[in-house]
Amino acid sequence: MEITALLTVTRAARLVGVTRAMLQKKIQSGEMTSFDGRVTVESMLACYPDAQLEDDTELTRVANIRELAFGKRVFERALPDAEVLAARLTELSKALADNQGQVNQFNKLLNKLWSKLDEIEEQADADTRLTVENLKVWIKNEVESAMEPGFSNPLAIRDNVLRVMAAQVTVLPSKHDFLVEGQDTLLEAAMRSGIPLSYGCSSGNCGLCKAKIVSGQVKKTLNHDFVISEMEKSQGYVLLCSNTAVSDVVLEAPVAGSVQDIPFQQISARVKKTDEFAGDMLLLHLQTPRTQRLRFLAGQSVTLRVGGAFSTELPIASCPCDDRNLLFHLRRQTGNLFSDYVFDHLKCNEAVKVEGPQGEFILHEKSPRALYFIAFDGGFAPIKSLIEHALSLNAESVHLHWMGSNREAIYLPNVARAWDDALDNFHYVEHIAGFDLRVVSANREEKLVSRLKEIVGSDAGFIQGDVYLAGPESAVLLAEQFFLALGLPRTRVSVAVTI
Ligand code: FES
Repeated sequence: MEITALLTVTRAARLVGVTRAMLQKKIQSGEMTSFDGRVTVESMLACYPDAQLEDDTELTRVANIRELAFGKRVFERALPDAEVLAARLTELSKALADNQGQVNQFNKLLNKLWSKLDEIEEQADADTRLTVENLKVWIKNEVESAMEPGFSNPLAIRDNVLRVMAAQVTVLPSKHDFLVEGQDTLLEAAMRSGIPLSYGCSSGNCGLCKAKIVSGQVKKTLNHDFVISEMEKSQGYVLLCSNTAVSDVVLEAPVAGSVQDIPFQQISARVKKTDEFAGDMLLLHLQTPRTQRLRFLAGQSVTLRVGGAFSTELPIASCPCDDRNLLFHLRRQTGNLFSDYVFDHLKCNEAVKVEGPQGEFILHEKSPRALYFIAFDGGFAPIKSLIEHALSLNAESVHLHWMGSNREAIYLPNVARAWDDALDNFHYVEHIAGFDLRVVSANREEKLVSRLKEIVGSDAGFIQGDVYLAGPESAVLLAEQFFLALGLPRTRVSVAVTI
C-alpha cells in the first residue's frame, strides 16, 4: 500500500467530496493534470485548496438521492469485516514503517551533509565561508518549516483513512474502476457503481462471476458450492460474488457492453407489494429469490406472466444495481386480461414469472455527451431505470422532460423533483400536453411539434446531446422524426415504445 501515489479519479473524487464527473470535467478542461487517467494529491490540493477533511457535501447529496432512488437496502453502510480491517491496517502500518525508515535515512544524510559543510567552512576563505553559512541557514529554515505540525497534507491523511475503509478495484481490460466499501463483495460493489460484470446467481452456485485476480489481495467472505479447480486457484481465479477486496485489486473480468452479453433468464419472482397511484397507474414490486437475480441492463424490458395465463412485456423501472427488487409501472387498461388480473386479483407474495431481458433501449455509456430524456406518460418507467443507472455512473449532465397527456399522467413527480433538488447535474421540467399522447394525429401533431420546439429552444445544449425518448408509440415516433429532422444522427436518438 503506497501512502503517496497517483490516485484514480474515483478515489480522488471521494477524497475531496465531489462526484467523479466533476473531477473529470476539471481534467478535460485542463484545470487538473492527469497521468494515464490518474491524479496526484498535489494537483488535487492545487485545484481544491480549501478541501476540508469532512467536506463531502456533494457526495452526501448524491448518496442521499441514490438512497431514495434505489431503496435503503442497497446503500446500507457498514464497517469492513474485522479481518479485512486488520489486514488493511497492517498494510498501512507497513507503509508507515517504510516511510519512517526513509525519514531516518534522510536525517542521517542531513547530519552527514552538516558535517561536510562544517569541514568546508573550516578550510575555506572568507567568501566561501559566507556562502556556506548562508546555505546552512537556508537548509535549517527549510527543514524547520517542513517539520512544522501544520505541514501535513489533509488530503493525504484522508486518503489513508479511505484506504482503510475502502479498497479500490480496477477491471481489465475495460479499465472500469470502483471502490469496495463496508462488507460488500466485489460483485456487489461493482453493481453499486453501475458496472455490469458477468454473473448469474450472486450466491456462489453458477460460477459465472469467476474472474482472475491480477494483483492485490482478496478474502473469501461467503462459502460457495461452485468448485474452482486447484489449477485455477493457483492462477488467481476467484468468485466475485463470494470475495471482497482486502487491498487495492486489479482483476480481469468481462463487462457487458451490449444487450448480446446478457443471457436470457427465466425466474419465478414473488410480489412484494403493489401500490396504486394517480393516473390509473400501479407500481408492481417483485422480488426474486436470493439465489436467482435478474441480470439486465438499465432500460430493458421483461415478459411477466401472472395467474398462469396472462402475460405482457413491461420495461423495468428500477436500476440493475438492485437486481433482486424489480419495479414496474402498469397502466390500468380495462379489458386487458393482464392489467385486469394485476389490478383486481394479484396478491402479495403471489408468484410471477419473469422472462428476459429484452430491448436495446440502453445507455450509451461511452458517449461524452449530455443526456436528454423525454418521457411521455408511462415512458417514465424505462427512463427512470436509465437515469438511476446514469446517476450511479456519476453522469455529468442529465436532463429530464416529462410530458403528460394531463397532470395525472405525471404519476410520480416527486421522484424527479427530488433528484432535481438534490443534484446539481440533474435538471427536470414537467410539461402538460393537454391531449391524449396515445392518439397523436392531425392538429395534435402540430401541437406536439411546437412543444418539442419549445423544449429544444429552451436549452442550447439539447441538440449536442444524446436523446432518449420513451412513451406511447404515436408520441415517440413523432418525436423521433422531429429530432432526426433537426439533423441529429440516428445513433444519438434512442427510442422505446411503452404504454
Ligand atoms: S454469480 Fe453465480 S457464482 Fe457468483
